[in-house]
Amino acid sequence: MTMLTIQTQPIEGQKPGTSGLRKKTNVFMGPHYLENFVQAIWDGIGGIAGKTFVLGGDGRYFNDRAAQVILRMAAASGAAKVIVGQGALLSTPAASHLIRSRGADGGIILSASHNPGGPDEDFGVKYNTANGGPAPEDVTAQIFKATEAIKSYRILEAQDVDLSRAGATKLGEMQIEVVDPVADYQALMQQLFDFGAIRALLARGFSLRFDAMHAVTGPYAKAILEDALGAARGSVINAVPSPDFGGFHPDPNPVWAKPLVDLMMGPEAPDFGAASDGDGDRNMVLGRGIYVTPSDSLAVLAANAHLAPGYSGGLKGVARSMPTSKAVDRVAEALGIPCYETPTGWKFFGNLLDAGRATLCGEESAGTGSDHVREKDGLWAVLLWLNILAVWGGSVRDLMQAHWQQYGRNYYSRHDYEALPAEQAEGMMAELKARLSDLPGTQAGGLVIESADEFAYDDPVDGSRSEGQGVRIGFEGGGRIVFRLSGTGTVGATLRVYLEQVDAKNLDLDPAQALAPVIRAADEIAGIARHTGRSGPDVTT
Ligand code: G1P
Ligand code: ZN
Repeated sequence: MTMLTIQTQPIEGQKPGTSGLRKKTNVFMGPHYLENFVQAIWDGIGGIAGKTFVLGGDGRYFNDRAAQVILRMAAASGAAKVIVGQGALLSTPAASHLIRSRGADGGIILSASHNPGGPDEDFGVKYNTANGGPAPEDVTAQIFKATEAIKSYRILEAQDVDLSRAGATKLGEMQIEVVDPVADYQALMQQLFDFGAIRALLARGFSLRFDAMHAVTGPYAKAILEDALGAARGSVINAVPSPDFGGFHPDPNPVWAKPLVDLMMGPEAPDFGAASDGDGDRNMVLGRGIYVTPSDSLAVLAANAHLAPGYSGGLKGVARSMPTSKAVDRVAEALGIPCYETPTGWKFFGNLLDAGRATLCGEESAGTGSDHVREKDGLWAVLLWLNILAVWGGSVRDLMQAHWQQYGRNYYSRHDYEALPAEQAEGMMAELKARLSDLPGTQAGGLVIESADEFAYDDPVDGSRSEGQGVRIGFEGGGRIVFRLSGTGTVGATLRVYLEQVDAKNLDLDPAQALAPVIRAADEIAGIARHTGRSGPDVTT
């Protein structure tokens, strides 16, 4: 086997975003594109000689071939070992767990998460550090710097490694261990949750439907929900990972998982419904006739986590991304534990989890997780819900009602304006930022603005500061709007408008009705229609 050094030059735009580098698949497949970025990871982290890595992805188009390239590049740069999921598959949380449990130096996850897959869709590469979590900003900055300076990359000339069977092999001097992607993860779930109680719940006739959306969670959900816990065969649907996710958008929200929502709202609804995304870190939870917003899910899980064995000692603290509703804040207050507000992106939870300041974390974008790994974890959230329901005894609706009665209800919605021309979206944000100091005391949508600022985060653990993390507008009475531009899109700019209204008394309003004044205020304050020419959002969740 020959080690090749290939001359190359920097390729523009290889800057990791909210969650790794995401581009169109054909961009990643272009000459040197993947190789440049992978070499930049190696260079950005100070080389990989003698190090051990975990490698896997969500099974999307190009996953298998990219994995082979990365193995050859790892071998050429002197890595000691790579632990790969069989078939180059690993869900994001399972990869995070493997990095931690094997004491690896880091890992590469091939995924563009909930973005569609296929030759004309999206691909992504994400680097995780030794704690199992997404590389923090100083690391991604080093990687980006390396993409700008790259002159050559090293790669072994070799045939593909057989990743179809578990076992040990070698590539050049480098060891490769192909592992069952599910086994270790399942063992971790068994430690955290009372499988006996969940099995008993299902045996009592509690029915569920889990939509794996043709993505990576299928094999995990089948093994855990059906085989280990005894959910009826067929409870897990769309369970075979497919390179183009069956032509669908593997994003577990009411828009892209509409068939599941329709089922849950209809006469044939099972007791519990859930879905997860492309790489298995997101989740959506529903009960018969009720959709649970991710922000509410975080609050309910925080309030009841002690019912599961892994959390019976209570929570050290909770954390939510800034745009996530403040429902969990009141739970934290009642529990007497800290609640941290971080910028969008799971990487910001890493330090809090490592330092033992937070046990549970969540984002409004269907992400919930805990200190069991350093990523959000879709199936984990589903199991925690099931464990809580098994002990608590009532339905999802009963649990939500009881929760709102105790804490009040945060009505919540997110409006996305997708594929806007970048200048237009940036122009709108710039105009808004310039007016922030004038807004407090004025009215919009009939609501009085109490506060307006741009969010900056001072990490309490390492003291690092992250600026420009979204504009927040607070209203008298507890309403709130957040405006920010997405950091994961691959076409133009996506404007996200996060809308929240809190109500302690009216617990059964239609969310659209409860939020109507806040929605009007958003357009008045930012001039969304004026700037974008759009009369409404492309996606409402
Ligand atoms: C989006 C979500 C964010 C999540 C990220 C990765 O990022 O909003 O909460 O962490 O995807 O799954 P955004 O596109 O908003 O930058
Ligand atoms: Zn994801």
